[in-house]
Amino acid sequence: MSVEKLLPEEKQGEALNAVSRNSNNSKKLYLESYGCAMNFSDSEIIASILDKEGFDTTQDFKVADLIFLNTCAIRDNAEQRVRNRLNDFKQLKRKNPSLIIGVLGCMAERLKSKLLEEEKLVDLVVGPDSYRDLPNLIETVEGGQKAVNVLLSREETYADISPVRLDSNGITAFVSITRGCDNMCAFCVVPFTRGRERSREPETIVNEARDLFERGYKEVTLLGQNVNSYLWTGGGLKKDNPSEDELKNATTFAQLLEKVALINPDLRIRYSTSHPKDMGDDVLEIMAKYENICNYVHLPVQSGSSRVLEMMNRGYTREWYMDRINAIKRFMPDAGISTDTISGFCGETEEDHQETMSLMEWSGFDFSYMFKYSERPKTLAERKFKDDVDEATKSRRLAEIIEVQKQLSHKSNIRDLGKEFKVLIEGVSKKSADFLYGRNSQNKVIVFPKKDLKKGDYATIKVTSCTSATLLGEAVQS
Ligand code: 5AD
Ligand code: SF4
Repeated sequence: MSVEKLLPEEKQGEALNAVSRNSNNSKKLYLESYGCAMNFSDSEIIASILDKEGFDTTQDFKVADLIFLNTCAIRDNAEQRVRNRLNDFKQLKRKNPSLIIGVLGCMAERLKSKLLEEEKLVDLVVGPDSYRDLPNLIETVEGGQKAVNVLLSREETYADISPVRLDSNGITAFVSITRGCDNMCAFCVVPFTRGRERSREPETIVNEARDLFERGYKEVTLLGQNVNSYLWTGGGLKKDNPSEDELKNATTFAQLLEKVALINPDLRIRYSTSHPKDMGDDVLEIMAKYENICNYVHLPVQSGSSRVLEMMNRGYTREWYMDRINAIKRFMPDAGISTDTISGFCGETEEDHQETMSLMEWSGFDFSYMFKYSERPKTLAERKFKDDVDEATKSRRLAEIIEVQKQLSHKSNIRDLGKEFKVLIEGVSKKSADFLYGRNSQNKVIVFPKKDLKKGDYATIKVTSCTSATLLGEAVQS
């Protein structure tokens, strides 16, 4: 899977190899990323820090001096995947004891030095806020010791580090705007692995996006665990109770979106992820006002039952969520909307499950990322509730949810037949070199004959047919 496909498919937890940058560095880093787009974005910061230390990235772990796995801890199976992957490096490490193996990211933060005991071949354990320390940590390992840094920070945003773009199509890029999360959703391990929420200085975000545009990029995706609560009040950490004065000079997410949109009308803007409780009309208004802010909202609902939402500590009800969907459609009648769901959360009854399905039908999501509940150590749910929905029921409910979404996605694609969309061309179709693919504002992929078009162009594409997953079309004169 290529990085341009990562949003939001990343949640399925696929691994990605870093591509070689072929500079003149002598040492080789093999970097594999798991989990969310934030992790892939962090990998670009890691590569940038190590570039300065004389490391070039390689796609072949067999020639690497350094193997890094940038890991995810969101569900148990994400961690199992990393443990299995580590096994693949055992023989190599035995043959070449000077090979350094590091586990970075959320799993490193969650397990800390315990990971060194559990996985003997690991030399280095580094949490998401400690990447600046990597050169020292590598030196420690080169000196024959193991190294751990899992300190979480209240300020670190890596604002001054210019990320090395890995596996890039040269057209779309991620720009991180917040780190951490203060929400404490009962099921979620992220607040424990990524720490307190902090916002990055707006100027540095705008500069990074402008620089990308000047280098030929046409789309930026602003990233954060909960972008809607972005708030810059002059310091890194989001203030819980900013004073009147601080608020007057603050930059909100809506204002940040506008600043980025104003860089150039040919630079498209997306963002991820939103939280329904913080999704205000101010953001929707700005989205509707600027054509280059894509009409696409990923709004994770998690459950359609107010009772379950309360247990999940999500801070909204079914009715609130419906009001936000109505608001999106009011501001942008053609918006693409997707969601996340969790099946089989603690105490979820058959009736709760039906409510999730009916809310999906009502909302008419174009796409969903659907998960089975996986209990995570230390979370509110692990401490307060019993993981009491049995595995077979979780699986059955998930299958039913997937079926509902399949129908909705199909209907959504059929609604697009005959419509014309402005598409940003991202590359050549995997199936045939005679076809290109790109995305419309609503985040749907459209495949169409190449003709004289090329990557990075905007084109008007008329949808002529569809499969369950993709729209097919042809270019028309705009
Ligand atoms: N179990 C299952 N799914 C989870 N998610 C987060 N934590 C868990 C968990 N413990 C899902 C949510 C979130 C997405 C990124 O992952 O739906 O929006
Ligand atoms: Fe996890 Fe909730 Fe924060 Fe998302 S908003 S990262 S689900 S705690």
